Amino acid sequence: MVDTKATLSIKGESDSAIDLDIRSGTVGPSVVDIAPLSKNGYFTFDPGFVATASCESKITYIDGDAGTLLHRGYPIEQLAEKSDYLEVCYLLLNGELPNREEKEAFDRTVRYHTMLNDNIADFYRGFRYDAHPMAMMCATVGAMSSFYHDSLDINDPESRQVATFRLISKMPTLAAMSYKHSIGQPSMYPRNELDYAENFLHMMFGNPCEETNVNPILADAMDKIFILHADHEQNASTSTVRLAGSSGANPFACIAAGIATLWGPSHGGANEAVLRMLGEIGDISNVEAAVKRAKDKDDAFRLMGFGHRVYKNFDPRAKVLKKSCDQVLGELGINDPLLDIARKLEEIALEDSYFIDKKLYPNVDFYSGIILQALGIPLSMFTVIFAIGRTVGWIAHWNEMLSEPYKIGRPRQLYTGHAIRDYRDIEQR
Ligand code: ACO
Repeated sequence: MVDTKATLSIKGESDSAIDLDIRSGTVGPSVVDIAPLSKNGYFTFDPGFVATASCESKITYIDGDAGTLLHRGYPIEQLAEKSDYLEVCYLLLNGELPNREEKEAFDRTVRYHTMLNDNIADFYRGFRYDAHPMAMMCATVGAMSSFYHDSLDINDPESRQVATFRLISKMPTLAAMSYKHSIGQPSMYPRNELDYAENFLHMMFGNPCEETNVNPILADAMDKIFILHADHEQNASTSTVRLAGSSGANPFACIAAGIATLWGPSHGGANEAVLRMLGEIGDISNVEAAVKRAKDKDDAFRLMGFGHRVYKNFDPRAKVLKKSCDQVLGELGINDPLLDIARKLEEIALEDSYFIDKKLYPNVDFYSGIILQALGIPLSMFTVIFAIGRTVGWIAHWNEMLSEPYKIGRPRQLYTGHAIRDYRDIEQR
């Protein structure tokens, strides 16, 4: 909705006032529509997109100052407590919570598309025995486009829907296969009578020689982790998926691009980095020294799992996970010295003026790393689990973009290199 206008006048050019529409959303800050600037010979400059809305969206809303996260209007705390992952998937994709029949039909479709084309297993044989599972995920999800030709037509909503189900259903299967490859065990076939999180744990921890019994406490905690990672509006990986999709790339290629972006330690790789950091700190007695290093401008060390581009308050997902973390550890009777280090770190950082002034709170990765460790998930799988949960968010945004008129994403730049100059022959250089 266009509310009002802003006028930009360029200093020294009094007759150069440019009128810009100010558009407001349902909630949250309004945006200045700067598209007319380019016709006047100007671009805006905003490295890292700190003040740029790259699109219009109806899926997720975050208020970073208040620590609020809403999916289609529903607070994440309520979804984590009352819903399950596949219901949240339905909500993100369709805009409304499903009724009973819709939920049953959706769950059934996801459950019955878990198996992969068997030739995909051959890819794993080509990876080195110690390949990182995220490397295998980037490759095999991208390679799905060479198998599922009937879901590559991005202009056909039905084809997009088939790709959506394939991706959500098969991500846990691919993820578990990459883990099994890295430990030299045979892959497990999915069991469609199990629910989403149970099936993933069965494929991760089961083996063909015996019946798997998935602990329901672990399955519940895993489902919650998937819910809490399902979407987070225009973060780096989602923006990557949108950008890749804007060129007309196929869904599997776009999601592979999202997985690649998620892998970085400033994004999804942080949950793995948290545990590595706790291991390096090694003992409670070293926590104060680590906090001191994190505050030192001349030291590149940062407290992994602290701070967030958008949240300048407690990450609401971290609050839910902190509670579930205490619950799961209590129920499983786990006593891990790394967890004591984590608790001490949290306590010191939350009282330190450096972290308070910069509004650096523990983020979702801080607690998800701890809880995944408690669930017995190997470190190298932490970011893969984030990718499983986030797949639905990536697809929901990709689909939203393709359902409306869209343009290829093409940012501009402030060029500070050489102006035009003549080529010099090699003897003259
Ligand atoms: N430890 C110590 N200092 C920090 C930390 C940290 N974890 N995070 C930010 N700061 C400091 C910066 O040094 C900077 O200080 P300055 O203003 O004196 O220069 C200030 O806080 C602002 O930090 P920026 O890096 O400018 O903030 P930005 O919004 O660009 O970065 C980010 C956010 C990348 C998440 C950052 O906080 C970080 O690196 N955190 C650790 C990694 C992490 O946990 N990432 C997970 C993010 S959540 C997710 O992807 C699900």
